[in-house]
Amino acid sequence: MGALKRLSISIPKELSAAFDKRSKRKGYGNRSEAIRDLIRDELVKEEWSDPKARVAATLTLVYDHHTRTLTDRITEVQHDGGELIVSALHVHLDHHNCLEVVVLRGAAKDVQGLGDSLASIRGIKHAQLTLATEGKSIV
Ligand code: NI
Repeated sequence: MGALKRLSISIPKELSAAFDKRSKRKGYGNRSEAIRDLIRDELVKEEWSDPKARVAATLTLVYDHHTRTLTDRITEVQHDGGELIVSALHVHLDHHNCLEVVVLRGAAKDVQGLGDSLASIRGIKHAQLTLATEGKSIV
């Protein structure tokens, strides 16, 4: 973190109390760090609004590998994803269920598109794309 700038803001008391309660529940030691994280979250969302911006993301999938052709389809879509896929982690949860975390990186539009293609494969029990950042524009 670079030099700090002190800001003074005015918000309704109830809003401030609700925010402080939330910050405490989430484990923030002080209000400033909680506000900094909210700002960072907004900046990451802003990055994603530009389809050409370089972003990073993780896609979590849960599926039953016994479901006919599902594993083949997931592998096929990942191969088609080419350089957008940085890495994938596969965990055998039990006899049936697999959890896969796919790390994606590239232009926002392409990453979102590949995430959607994987998440929408029929038979997947759970899919969640988490939008992240390459971190360069966030301090
Ligand atoms: Ni498995």
